[in-house]
Amino acid sequence: MLKLEEKIRSKSAKIGIVGLGYVGLPLAVAFSEAGFKVLGVDVQRRRVDAVNQGQSYIADVSAERLQAVVANNLLQATTEQSRLKETDAICICVPTPLTKTKDPDLSYVTHESKEIAKCLQPGQLIVLESTTYPGTTREVVLPILESSKLRVGVDFYLAYSPERFDPGNKKHGIRNTPKIVGGINSQSTELAQVLYSQIAETVVPVSCPEVAEMTKIFENVFRSVNIALVNELAQLCHNMNVSVWEVIDAASTKPFGYMPFYPGPGIGGHCIPLDPYYLASKAREFDFHTRFIELAAEINERMPYYVVFGIMEALNTRGKGLNGARVLILGVAYKKDVEDVRESPSLKLTQLLSDKGAKVSYNDPYTLKIKLSQGELTSVALTKENLSSADCVVIATDHSCYDVDEVIAHSKLVFDARGATRGLKDNNIVRLGE
Ligand SMILES: NC(=O)c1ccc[n+]([C@@H]2O[C@H](COP(=O)([O-])OP(=O)(O)OC[C@H]3O[C@@H](n4cnc5c(N)ncnc54)[C@H](O)[C@@H]3O)[C@@H](O)[C@H]2O)c1
Repeated sequence: MLKLEEKIRSKSAKIGIVGLGYVGLPLAVAFSEAGFKVLGVDVQRRRVDAVNQGQSYIADVSAERLQAVVANNLLQATTEQSRLKETDAICICVPTPLTKTKDPDLSYVTHESKEIAKCLQPGQLIVLESTTYPGTTREVVLPILESSKLRVGVDFYLAYSPERFDPGNKKHGIRNTPKIVGGINSQSTELAQVLYSQIAETVVPVSCPEVAEMTKIFENVFRSVNIALVNELAQLCHNMNVSVWEVIDAASTKPFGYMPFYPGPGIGGHCIPLDPYYLASKAREFDFHTRFIELAAEINERMPYYVVFGIMEALNTRGKGLNGARVLILGVAYKKDVEDVRESPSLKLTQLLSDKGAKVSYNDPYTLKIKLSQGELTSVALTKENLSSADCVVIATDHSCYDVDEVIAHSKLVFDARGATRGLKDNNIVRLGE
């Protein structure tokens, strides 16, 4: 048995987690709760201080859980990259955004790989968790790590393991979501498997990092394409005067070969709008054009414009122009019951409506301020007065805490972009896809 395997199994291995964000912080807490000493590294001093003080800034990690592992001396955070040499296994959870032209921006991954190379220790296991195109672990991370003069499979181990974290999901978390691992060599895969089996019930080894990298992107492309399909169907249903919501509910009764996806004002979050572009970009290197990815992106990215057009039409039939109209947006997070506004279609909606001269305000109990190009907006209270003074109330994100009946009762016009009012008949409700 390798020394590292022994250390992991006896829980005497120290785990380094680089990037304490939506992915890294829950992972750090999970390893700590499993009894490991964890060193969290982040470039943001604010986040490091918050972790050390037991203050959580990620909704899926409660302050109580964080405080417990910090108080038990299991989790400590630092900005000092060189301290990674104290660790036995390092999970890299840094951002993988896109450039302005929607090309992969691997600068965080390369920067971090260089930091690790400076302090790489014999026997360490390095696992990249950030979502990226197939080939990143082998072509980008490995050469940087080997610039340390240590050799993979001989002196250190390297694997890719995609994060499948779903913010706000109360049913599936780290423990009961199978974890894919693909190492550069078989020992790397085996060590990664032993590592993650400490916190996940099922670990699925695959033959190489490229399979693991492609698996993650395929999962997100699958969602993006199916959401685009239903977004297109919603537009057709509107033209044909058929309810897309009723169609989806009816189709969902089929016990095999179908799973429901729902239309909406667009896609958001740090994964689905971005990750498919990583594959589309890499595919071009192989003279290949990923047409499904492009088509899905085109349809999904047009949805905020389509919703604005729907709002304009709804106001118009009530003798009101969008220019000068008061529009109250409900929900700015990219999906219900989370506080994450990254790539949120509500932000795009707010911007587009403002650009057309609407006086836009918003309510979101999870996000009290948003930044737009014209400045900052603050969430307004969800009062009868604010609802009734708006010319149109837009349900952009259907947070569970919204009392839909109350919203309808006090609003002149509700544009429902999420199907939150489905089944309800009221002349003042206009629903996407009907
Ligand atoms: N958010 C999700 O739901 C989700 C789900 C699955 C996969 N992912 C993927 O996981 C990765 C991380 O995403 P996230 O949502 O946690 O991002 P995030 O922005 O919430 O967190 C990333 C953290 O990394 C830190 N950081 C950046 N460079 C660093 C460096 N060199 N050293 C140390 N810390 C550094 C940042 O300060 C930040 O705190 C991305 O590749 C993303 O695509 C995210």
